[in-house]
Amino acid sequence: MFEAKTHPVPTEFAANAHINNEQYLAMYQASVATPDIFWAEQAQQFLSWQQPWTSVCEFDFKKGEASWFAGGKLNVSANCIDRHLATRGEQTAIIWEGDDPEDNINISYNELHEQVCKLANVLKSRGVKKGDRVCIYMPMIIEAAYAMLACTRIGAVHSVVFGGFSPEALKDRILDSDCQVVLTADEGVRGGKTIPLKNNVDSALAHCPNVHSNIVVARTGGEISWDESHDLWYHELMEQASADCEPEWMDSEDPLFILYTSGSTGKPKGVLHSTGGYLLQAAMTHKYAFDYHDGDVFWCTADVGWVTGHSYTLYGPLANGGITLMFEGVPNYPDASRFWQVCDKHQVNIFYTAPTALRALMGAGDEFVRSSSRQSLKVLGTVGEPINPEAWEWYYNIVGEGRCPIVDTWWQTETGAHMLTPLPGATALKPGSATRPFFGVQPVLLDSEGKEIEGAGEGNLAIKHSWPSQIRSVYGDHQRMIDTYFSTYPGYYFTGDGARRDQDGYYWITGRVDDVLNVSGHRMGTAEIESALVLHDAVAEAAVVGYPHDIKGQGIYAYVTLMNGQQPSDALKQEFIDLCVKEIGPIAKPDLIQWAPGLPKTRSGKIMRRILRKLAANEVDSLGDTSTLADPSVVDELMANRLNQ
Ligand code: WTA
Repeated sequence: MFEAKTHPVPTEFAANAHINNEQYLAMYQASVATPDIFWAEQAQQFLSWQQPWTSVCEFDFKKGEASWFAGGKLNVSANCIDRHLATRGEQTAIIWEGDDPEDNINISYNELHEQVCKLANVLKSRGVKKGDRVCIYMPMIIEAAYAMLACTRIGAVHSVVFGGFSPEALKDRILDSDCQVVLTADEGVRGGKTIPLKNNVDSALAHCPNVHSNIVVARTGGEISWDESHDLWYHELMEQASADCEPEWMDSEDPLFILYTSGSTGKPKGVLHSTGGYLLQAAMTHKYAFDYHDGDVFWCTADVGWVTGHSYTLYGPLANGGITLMFEGVPNYPDASRFWQVCDKHQVNIFYTAPTALRALMGAGDEFVRSSSRQSLKVLGTVGEPINPEAWEWYYNIVGEGRCPIVDTWWQTETGAHMLTPLPGATALKPGSATRPFFGVQPVLLDSEGKEIEGAGEGNLAIKHSWPSQIRSVYGDHQRMIDTYFSTYPGYYFTGDGARRDQDGYYWITGRVDDVLNVSGHRMGTAEIESALVLHDAVAEAAVVGYPHDIKGQGIYAYVTLMNGQQPSDALKQEFIDLCVKEIGPIAKPDLIQWAPGLPKTRSGKIMRRILRKLAANEVDSLGDTSTLADPSVVDELMANRLNQ
């Protein structure tokens, strides 16, 4: 079995870290032996409560129920802003770095407070109340941070939709959670190009009669259309708003936000997170997994449209009174040295990004890294997909010059915060392993019968005790939450990932075991892409699988069966791609489309995806048993014409 070399914790690093290995072991032990005591202490230490809780944790995985710090009252914006004002009002809270390298601003905690309070009052003036859902469809501009925090200030539930999603996808999300207010910008800017966000909102709102206010930030001043009945300029509303806004005191279990994510079936689910537990685990993991110290500049490159942007661009760092960098641009604009130039420019100490970006930058050549100093860097992080050992070593040796521990953090939209991760002062690193569980997290590997595997082995990764930042529900459909996460293995939360545990108790994520793809770190359901393809009149049937892709991790491979009488053509392929972009967004573009006169099906008509996956991966020697197929000859045809040889 492949065993990578181990990088021990540098002695000096352990000496100055919040947590060394002995402390990790003791704290972990306490966190699982007496969770209520452990978490109560953490909740006191990390958060400010307006009123204490009555119970620390109650959960019943069979019913998909969990509650943390119930009865306790707090406000997320007060924890992320107000309580820091006395000691660090003038300290920078957010460094914003624009797409254009000349463009940047620093926002202090005092300024953040003023802007968030004003925007909270603007939302109130548009009728937004506690519990109402607000859709945020914005680029990575500072106003996106204000918008999220302003929602939390008044107890509104934000639903951030990534700016790369299409009008169709945006519409579905607005309708599903019945958002009546939308915040957007005229255009986004990325890599020197503009993205027509307001136009996209216009198309979506044509089908969303309940939206009465669309608040638009003027980012570029580009030309847009305007509907007086619901469009409002952000800057005009802000001019009149008061900077005085008392936070709404929320119960710890009140909903905080909804974030849509893909599963193996149906449309994306609105993952619902609640207030106290989420903020606690976001803050605590930010401090310990990155060994964040006061004054450190922390940069998570994730867009706020993804959970990583929620927990680590915004909430974790701000809850800790930290300095967080928000980046509007892309890794390769103006050129492939951008990340490292920004690290030098703002003296970044902790840098957190996705393997797909690292692989792309690795391909661009080391000279782009070496043109920068990177002396400020102390800790590097990765998230979103398994990192291959080559990319890990490159990150470690070239970017970090062998000086910076790498934290490979495994977690999910549903987990809210890190679950498996090294702690830089405590954990010896093995390239490609997310190493050990965070405090309070009890991972297990289950075999096909649902029995726990002891010691070293491989199986399906599940979690057996609730953790504070866990998903509380699927918005509007609690049964779907039970069916998706708590039914496969009753009594456990099932992650959808496979994993291996080695003899040191380290976890190695092997990837999804369901029909969820991970393309450039973005989650997508094969069913979503198939639904888009079959909307085309020429398509009789479509099956989508992932295949290994050097940069993206996984690429999208689509098999398409045409209607009788339709002729395959490149023009038709382009129409299919356009349809995926229209229905979902550019991230859903199939990389390869193979014409499939027939698909491998069982006699009962079920598509055998296992075979399609093998063909797409060019693993034709291990197709397995095809004798149960209704028509085994379709496999020969697909094999002869496969596109990834
Ligand atoms: C994958 C992103 C390996 C995994 C925070 C998971 C990872 C899915 C890692 C969640 C990692 C995330 N190593 N795989 N360090 N981190 N994944 O919801 O398959 O966008 O189930 O959350 O990404 O993706 P999501």
